Amino acid sequence: MIRRTAVLLACVAALGPACTRDAPPERCPRYLTIGADALGTAAVVGGLHDAHLRVLATGDEVAVIAFDAEDLEPLAAQMHAQHARCGGFVVHATLAEALAAQADVAAQVRPAPPVDYTLARPEVVAAVLPTLEPARILGTIRALSAMKNRYYTSETGAAASVWLRDRWRSFTPRRDVTVELLDHGFPQRSVMLRIPGTTRPDEVVVIGGHLDSIAVGGKGSTAPGADDDASGIATLTEVARALLAADVRPARTIEIIAYAAEEIGLRGSQAVVKDHQARGIQVIGALQLDMTNFQGSEKAIWLMKDFTSAAQNAFLIELIDTYVGATWGLDACGYACSDHASWYRAGVPASMPFEARMKDRNKVIHTARDTLETSGDNAAHALTFARLAAAYAIELGRFELPVRTAAR
Ligand code: BES
Ligand code: ZN
Repeated sequence: MIRRTAVLLACVAALGPACTRDAPPERCPRYLTIGADALGTAAVVGGLHDAHLRVLATGDEVAVIAFDAEDLEPLAAQMHAQHARCGGFVVHATLAEALAAQADVAAQVRPAPPVDYTLARPEVVAAVLPTLEPARILGTIRALSAMKNRYYTSETGAAASVWLRDRWRSFTPRRDVTVELLDHGFPQRSVMLRIPGTTRPDEVVVIGGHLDSIAVGGKGSTAPGADDDASGIATLTEVARALLAADVRPARTIEIIAYAAEEIGLRGSQAVVKDHQARGIQVIGALQLDMTNFQGSEKAIWLMKDFTSAAQNAFLIELIDTYVGATWGLDACGYACSDHASWYRAGVPASMPFEARMKDRNKVIHTARDTLETSGDNAAHALTFARLAAAYAIELGRFELPVRTAAR
């Protein structure tokens, strides 16, 4: 016991200058580089009581987080207890210093190839969008949020992947359309539905969201995650169903992805991106749906300007104005807030249309109260995002109407 306390004190002594609640924030050691595998620990210690651990950047090995100075001691204790590390994180005086420290191991952003964003498939959009059904989106949110949690290491989190795979598989008997689980070395797996392109199969369009949920208590918690992010997964699910039911065919390959383990540092999406890079797959655009069913602001769709592509965001605005008929605005997360950042870092044009402005965001996420009730027990707002995601997939994927056998 004495020995443990002594080790712990030695760890805490390495944290940097003492900082109290009343110290000016600039004198507090707030920016940390930490092993990406310990983000879950950091989330539980420091982030969740505030409903927000500020993960500013993540790489395969090292993440940069903003952390309250007062939580550093408990973090050191947990790093010691759970990871047998003395600290296991480095405190930096400024964000710039933390990012510079992380840059040594982080992937570099490379310029994306130019993409033609001309609208060319109004007839396909007109055939598919009216078939999107809010009741189906609602049903999927209800089913996902009924699970105790979808935490990346829990049994229910692992079962959620299998449940979603089977649901997506039920949408088509086609053999060329595949729905697979992607293993990342932890219990929850990502789910990917792929519709191969007819004439440009090597060019891939990704639409995604995250399957996992989180709340204080991690694995054993009640974390319905109805908005964060059952709403995004349910929106994608309805887009997949409608596209397959209409029997329309994309020139480019479409990948619909439910990422595992977003909440603990974009782990699933980083693994997916790395795998695409290793295979030399050319992803020409990625759309992230993370929280689509809580209308917190007057305008409907908020496009995040940071960690996204300005050119692709302009394309989304055209899609909204031409096909969705919704109001929109621009906002920013201020940090790498969801899986779009994993694609962005790899040089892929990424976008994150969001349900509200940041200042009006859903405040009950990451708690047991993130239920459908917050969204009025309907999926009206999510339907707007389903229309946008379907239009995005159809136009960027260059879908064609089914070829009908000529009448005799
Ligand atoms: N859906 C949230 C991100 C979010 C929350 C965006 C509120 C806009 C408003 C996401 O699932 C999340 O919680 N992300 C983490 C960061 C991630 C890298 C662990 C966060 O925001 O703390
Ligand atoms: Zn989320």
